[in-house]
Amino acid sequence: MNPTMPPMDMASFQPEAMQAWLYSGTSGGLEKNLRFEPATRAPPAPQGNEVLVRVISAALNPVDYKFPEMGLPARMLIGMPASPGMDFCGRVVATGPLAKHLKEDQLIYGCPARPVQFGSLGEYLSITADKIAVLPNGVPIDNAASLPVAGLTAYQSLEGYVKAGEKVLINGASGGCGIFAIQIAKQMGCHVTTISSTRNIELCLRMGADEVIDYTAHKDLVAKLQERNVVFDCVVDHIGLPSTLYYQCHHFLKEDGTFVQVGASSIMTFLGRLGWPSFLGGGQRKYVAVMVKTDQKQLVQLGEWLAEGKIKIQLDSVYELHDAEKAFQKLRSGRARGKIVVHVSDPHNQNMESFGIGL
Ligand SMILES: NC(=O)c1ccc[n+]([C@@H]2O[C@H](COP(=O)([O-])OP(=O)(O)OC[C@H]3O[C@@H](n4cnc5c(N)ncnc54)[C@H](OP(=O)(O)O)[C@@H]3O)[C@@H](O)[C@H]2O)c1
Repeated sequence: MNPTMPPMDMASFQPEAMQAWLYSGTSGGLEKNLRFEPATRAPPAPQGNEVLVRVISAALNPVDYKFPEMGLPARMLIGMPASPGMDFCGRVVATGPLAKHLKEDQLIYGCPARPVQFGSLGEYLSITADKIAVLPNGVPIDNAASLPVAGLTAYQSLEGYVKAGEKVLINGASGGCGIFAIQIAKQMGCHVTTISSTRNIELCLRMGADEVIDYTAHKDLVAKLQERNVVFDCVVDHIGLPSTLYYQCHHFLKEDGTFVQVGASSIMTFLGRLGWPSFLGGGQRKYVAVMVKTDQKQLVQLGEWLAEGKIKIQLDSVYELHDAEKAFQKLRSGRARGKIVVHVSDPHNQNMESFGIGL
């Protein structure tokens, strides 16, 4: 038996060691600094409303390398060495005194509010009970692991900014967040247009988009949007490109519409778009920058939608734990079509066939 696997008496189980990918620096990129430790320190016993989880599957998000690569702030906030990864689905192995409503051995999914020292590319992590949801019956583990950060981000980029019958434009719709954004916007009753490359047109349509604009087919995307003469109620931007998209959005976004910025390759995109006044050529529409929160109600709702088949998971690729570096290389390529999953530990009495459904 694997020495770090929980024995049958779960109530008293507290692992001393675990297998994990660790980093202590990020020079040249996080993935070049990852090292696999077969028996490193496990998180401490859960206190208060904390839950100790044995991670079965983790899903990656760009923040998993962007945050560590901030350098000193990351080092000061979380400490080193650290394991990357926020999204997980796994089993409860121990609970703090205020989290006794969760049964040991229960399958749960979730993500911490921000990157942590014991991330989901380690066999065990500790998380507060308000950042998790119980896995609904029938939902595969890999699919639940894919949900938290990207699903919540998509939810929060739309709720309050669009309503049924309205038109939404989603830039970068084929990635981890975008696939959820298409489906949640359709759930809300919106008309969805996406901006995607030729190879992802079919994917976006399959996920529910009503129309797709191929960004690789138009040299001047903003001119194309103007020429189409369609006015949107909301623009959700995961990419930050083209750079003029926000500054020129008054040509294709309603006067009372909102431009929602989810992602960009540089913080300067957010700062420039936020700070450049409209009378000097800046954007003329309301600008909102999303900062995802682990909202438990939304996490539960997303799981229910998944169980009911109202949203589907698009897995780009699934890696075994020893291939985590390759998973990060794929993530950094910026070409993922949906979510990247890493199998962290065997599901422990869970039917192995539950892996990978939805591929
Ligand atoms: N604000 C927040 O709280 C928050 C939360 C989560 C994520 N984010 C950020 O949001 C961004 C998206 O995250 P993600 O997980 O969706 O990333 P991702 O999965 O890595 O996105 C990859 C997708 O982006 C598409 N893409 C790349 N360049 C494009 C372009 N010029 N135009 C249109 N599509 C393009 C790619 O399609 P092609 O290969 O076809 O180009 C690919 O399918 C990242 O910057 C991330 O850091 C922010």
